Amino acid sequence: MDKQLKKEVDKRRTFAIISHPDAGKTTLTEKLLLKGGAIHEAGEIKGRKADRFALSDWMTMEKERGISVTSSVMQFPYRGYEMNLLDTPGHRDFSEDTYRVLTAADSVIMVLDNANAVEQQTKKLMEVCRMRDMPVITFVNKMDRHGMPPLDILEDIEKELDLETVPLSWPIGMGDRFRGTYNLFRDELHLFSHADMEGEHERLPIEDLDDPQLDEVLRDQADDLRFDVELVREAGNELEMEKYRDGQQTPVFFGSALSNFGVGDMLDTFVEIAPSPQPRPTVTRTVSPYEDDFTGVAFKIQANMDPKHHDRMAFVRVCSGRFEKGMEVIHHRTGETMRLNNATTFMAQDREGVDTAYPGDIIGIMSHGRVKIGDSFSASEPLHFTGVPSFAPEHFRKVHLDDPFRSKHLGKGLKQLSEEGAIQAFRPARGNDYILGAVGELQFDVTLDRLEDEYNVDAHLTGAPYTCCRWVKGPSEDLEDFRSENLDNLFEDADGDLAYLGLSDYRLERTVEEWPRLTFASTKEHTSERE
Ligand code: G4P
Repeated sequence: MDKQLKKEVDKRRTFAIISHPDAGKTTLTEKLLLKGGAIHEAGEIKGRKADRFALSDWMTMEKERGISVTSSVMQFPYRGYEMNLLDTPGHRDFSEDTYRVLTAADSVIMVLDNANAVEQQTKKLMEVCRMRDMPVITFVNKMDRHGMPPLDILEDIEKELDLETVPLSWPIGMGDRFRGTYNLFRDELHLFSHADMEGEHERLPIEDLDDPQLDEVLRDQADDLRFDVELVREAGNELEMEKYRDGQQTPVFFGSALSNFGVGDMLDTFVEIAPSPQPRPTVTRTVSPYEDDFTGVAFKIQANMDPKHHDRMAFVRVCSGRFEKGMEVIHHRTGETMRLNNATTFMAQDREGVDTAYPGDIIGIMSHGRVKIGDSFSASEPLHFTGVPSFAPEHFRKVHLDDPFRSKHLGKGLKQLSEEGAIQAFRPARGNDYILGAVGELQFDVTLDRLEDEYNVDAHLTGAPYTCCRWVKGPSEDLEDFRSENLDNLFEDADGDLAYLGLSDYRLERTVEEWPRLTFASTKEHTSERE
């Protein structure tokens, strides 16, 4: 094995941060980047978020040219490790990309705030993490504010996410009475100061919980801490690396991202225990990151990097080997050879031309529409990576064309936008009107704007009665019967695959029960035209 390659793989950590809106993801991201020296001033990321044009990411791009893209992958060093932080578009930008970016990460940091604990959006994101048994470290944020008791937060995680919790730090009070955390691993007291929220926080190593220093600094809260820690140590779970790596157990840290409190503690543990780039499955075999030959898979397409050229950037995760600028790779779906001269890397904030990249790194390839989501690249052996699926849309609209003579253009536009993963377009088995499906509502606005801008198609949308979507497969005789009985709910997606759009979850359940020989899948792997 190439020793240099092994060293580079082992020091990489490719991860995403998931949270519900307002839990503190942006604030935490900023603190991580500050720690890694990737930004120098608090407020750089936050400022961008505030400036973000609400309507759509790609329009923001036109305004800011590249800024959103660089903030969607951030590479920075930390204590000898190379961190690749993948931004999962959230809140108003929530889209299928939010899910898909997770497929390119090896682990996640889950941010909860102490007032809300597990919310709907976190649950959804965790479902996607579950598909690949991704390891999760939890950061319970905003301890400087009053919130739920810590034990209730742990219970919420266990109940709502079916994850065993292992607190590695324990909070001392909260809100006005927040005094800091106790590191259960290192028997260290970290003291928090309300007076100096942004400053350095004091660390106090102590012998054990009987150390009289505890009473000196914590006064009446010292005994509460002793009681809590005893309880947690007796009744709580031990950290088991295998369970963490299998996504069954989550280490939990408490802190306050805003005041940079507890963030370092969490990050130090993160780099130690989070997995380095993992093997990735292909249709034919599993590819180890340590293999010499370069391979990679596209998990996101960003349109309109430069609006004048209508170009696209494909975000490719390096899966194995060493990527070198100018190298020739096979684009597996088309069978063509591509020379990658203009790949981009995402060091710190600025996009830089990349010379070398290693497994776990993300490179950006200008594709001019040739690359689709899920496309695989390799130096020699033709390989088709799996694990970058389409996700069943959760919102639906009917498309109406304002000028009926543009219907061919509409079809072409929707096909291309579907291939990019910007939207999912479904053609009805009966009737003519396309149905659009999206994971986040904003995708509809983006689609309409892009149809107008890039395909000169004016269209508008109206509501559609569907609430869920499943891709249907099975023996052909069953499929035929199924088709004839469910024609009004059946559609073809842009790849020509059969999709069932349901009017309610209840109806979907009934349908699944009625057709036991058919499979109803909520994700769909991309097929390769060459197979
Ligand atoms: P998000 O990306 O998950 O949506 O959350 P973001 O970091 O934007 O944080 C949401 C709000 O919570 C922000 O306040 C932020 O300052 C605040 N916040 C984040 N971490 C902490 C923390 O540890 N303690 C406290 N008390 N607040 C925290 P905002 O009022 O929406 O924005 P801003 O005016 O402060 O920028």
